[in-house]
Amino acid sequence: MAKRIIVTGAGGYIGSMLTPYLLKKGFKVRAIDRYFFGFLNIKNKNLEIINNDIRLLKDKHFKNADYMIDLAAISNDVTGERYKKETFDINHLARVRNAKLAKKNKIKKYILPSSCSNYGKIKKTEIATENFKLKPLTNYSKANSYAEKDILKLASKNFCVTILRQGTVYGYSPKMRFDLVVNRMTYEAWKNNKILLMKDGTQRRPTLHIKDAIRAMHHILNSKNDIVNRQVFNVGGKNNNYMIKDLADIINKHFKNKLDITWYGSNDHRSYFVSFEKIKNIGYKTNYSPFDGVKEIIKCLNIGKIDLNDNTITLDWYETLEKWNNIIKNITINNKVVKF
Ligand SMILES: NC(=O)c1ccc[n+]([C@@H]2O[C@H](COP(=O)([O-])OP(=O)(O)OC[C@H]3O[C@@H](n4cnc5c(N)ncnc54)[C@H](O)[C@@H]3O)[C@@H](O)[C@H]2O)c1
Repeated sequence: MAKRIIVTGAGGYIGSMLTPYLLKKGFKVRAIDRYFFGFLNIKNKNLEIINNDIRLLKDKHFKNADYMIDLAAISNDVTGERYKKETFDINHLARVRNAKLAKKNKIKKYILPSSCSNYGKIKKTEIATENFKLKPLTNYSKANSYAEKDILKLASKNFCVTILRQGTVYGYSPKMRFDLVVNRMTYEAWKNNKILLMKDGTQRRPTLHIKDAIRAMHHILNSKNDIVNRQVFNVGGKNNNYMIKDLADIINKHFKNKLDITWYGSNDHRSYFVSFEKIKNIGYKTNYSPFDGVKEIIKCLNIGKIDLNDNTITLDWYETLEKWNNIIKNITINNKVVKF
């Protein structure tokens, strides 16, 4: 019998790649999302679409499922600063509540895709293992850290909880995000012939190809509970820790070192390299480097498969939705606008 997996945030950057991947691997997928960034363009008898808010889920949404991957979230720092209350409500409180509902409804395995940004800023000489004390600097990473802590406490023999701390993800997705560092730098190089570099370039970031992120989730689903239950893993491998200026060099190499650097922003305090030994020790390894991601994104840009617009920048899109919600509210009569 095919296993049923609940994927929240299925319509987002990672979710819209993860969902078809899981269907292909023979899972039944219950895809729960507000679909803020648009619906999934997939037809499959094993796909059940639920258009709902994760703050409103009930027992019925968790029935007859085996696993859950809880992607839905306000997904970056700037959006978390702009929508503080919502970030804590969604990323922390709703997730804890839903993990409890998952446990109550006998879901066997729960995966929380969290973030390496929870480490905040660590010394240049250090590499963060999963045991490092978290020092989250933003609302986004604070909410994620609280969710990790509270959800890990729910782990039991029959409810396996695994936290995956991901680096900044890059690579193609049908719901592209150009607010992610490798994706955006590649876009600017391709479109405007410049390397856009956030000051001062020495900030350290783990990165992760989107396909490697998804394979890590699958790896946890396939792993024995006694290896992954109550565990936190940094997700990555070799070719994943970079200073931002090294990423710029990688992109420039692709353009035969012809592009000039344009600096922006004030100094970014988030800086952390992380260790990937623990996940390597359970048999996971990455397949891609940022250079592969850059090549892939340029190829997609060249054929017009992706482009940058408000819908691909998380904060811009949420602000656009809020703006239009207000406009439509003000002009709507009897649920109608122009057509009566
Ligand atoms: N992309 C990265 O670089 C990265 C890195 C580390 C961790 N993560 C984590 O992985 C997860 C997925 O990231 P992503 O890049 O796909 O983000 P995304 O913003 O593209 O997708 C998030 C999805 O959640 C949905 N959503 C948001 N609030 C909701 C709500 N209240 N109810 C229902 N649905 C809601 C959105 O509609 C969207 O489809 C997030 O939890 C994020 O924090 C992502």
